[in-house]
Amino acid sequence: MVSLAAPHAKGKKSNDVIFGTSAAAKADIQKIGAEHVVNATIGTILDDDEKIVCLPVVERVFKSLPMADIISYAPIAGTPKYLEDAQAVCFGSHRPDAYTAAISTTGGTGGIHHAVHNYTSPGDEVLTSDWYWGAYKTICEDNNRKLRTYKLFDEDPQFNRASFEGNILHMAENQENVMAIINSPAHNPTGHALTSEDWDFVISLFTELAEKGKHMILFADVAYLDYAGPDARDFFSKFSKLHENILVLVEYSMSKGFTMYGLRSGALIAISSSQDVITEFSDINSFTSRATWSNTVRGAQETLCRIWEDEKLRNEWETEKEEYYKLIQERAAIFVEEAKEVGLPILPYKSGFFISVPAKDSKAACKALYDDHIYLVPLAAGVRIAVCAVSKKKMHGIAAKLKAAMERTGQL
Ligand SMILES: Cc1ncc(COP(=O)(O)O)c(C=O)c1O
Repeated sequence: MVSLAAPHAKGKKSNDVIFGTSAAAKADIQKIGAEHVVNATIGTILDDDEKIVCLPVVERVFKSLPMADIISYAPIAGTPKYLEDAQAVCFGSHRPDAYTAAISTTGGTGGIHHAVHNYTSPGDEVLTSDWYWGAYKTICEDNNRKLRTYKLFDEDPQFNRASFEGNILHMAENQENVMAIINSPAHNPTGHALTSEDWDFVISLFTELAEKGKHMILFADVAYLDYAGPDARDFFSKFSKLHENILVLVEYSMSKGFTMYGLRSGALIAISSSQDVITEFSDINSFTSRATWSNTVRGAQETLCRIWEDEKLRNEWETEKEEYYKLIQERAAIFVEEAKEVGLPILPYKSGFFISVPAKDSKAACKALYDDHIYLVPLAAGVRIAVCAVSKKKMHGIAAKLKAAMERTGQL
């Protein structure tokens, strides 16, 4: 094969199983009709008629924007009021007692990129759990970093503190900057969330190492924060008055909370006890934004600000997303209850768009389900079901059919 790619780029290729399985589902829909097919691959909220949901207040406000607010450039870091409002939206009533700053990002993905790029060095490892969103690995590899994993669950199954600690200590022996990405609450792909005590454990471990001079970077990926229930934001208060060698980065995505997936907007928010660290955060990340995407979508920033700054619109937004949080909870409850009834072992689910089922050969299980016209995503250690995208009616029976498919393929 002729290749003109530079050495570091040679051989790079995304193998996106999610879009692959989704394509198979779409082909089946063409053949036998949507009503006979369960497409549980999509990571966006669909209503019970299988139409993509846009929160009505978001649609109204976005469509009412003057053209100039949609098409004009925004400042590289984001408009000043967006940088304030995005923090307010993200923290809610749990703003940490610390210095903070934000920069606008291209969805949550952009913030993950900047954090990896600016707070670890080439060759470094970045830690996340063994159940993880595939883009973490892609971002690490594209930046010449390695993704390392700890076991998310212990035998109970609870957050595996021992595994987290062991891996962090190992990394601290080899690197100056130690970064862990924690996707909580409403973890993709399991629906897991750290408890308050788990967060205390993580912070105390980070503090211990920070006191020894290590630079500890805690990246909280809160992409699904708005569908995680009333207590979802409580843990932000814990990031108050931390040691100066700890930097907390929180990535807020407008993709889910504002159902603006394709408008590529979010905010990377830094929390530190040091004003210097915060100033440096704004400088280096704006620089990287300039060097990658320049500025982000002004119309999305304006939409968030208009909704947040108007009490009536803000209340509408809260009510509308609450409605979809409940809908997703109801769908998930159907699967969880049926899994229990038929004896299908699943990972503990609290909230969020996805549930996962451990499997030895997830690809075989998912393929076998094609016979039932059910499309789930095969991951390395199991099968992912997008409860955000499947109607309540269609949720019934998936657990039993998945169990049967796993039996057929010799996995149970
Ligand atoms: C775990 C996780 N983090 C972050 C994101 C950010 O997505 P986006 O860049 O679309 O905001 C996603 C989206 O699927 C996700 O699943």
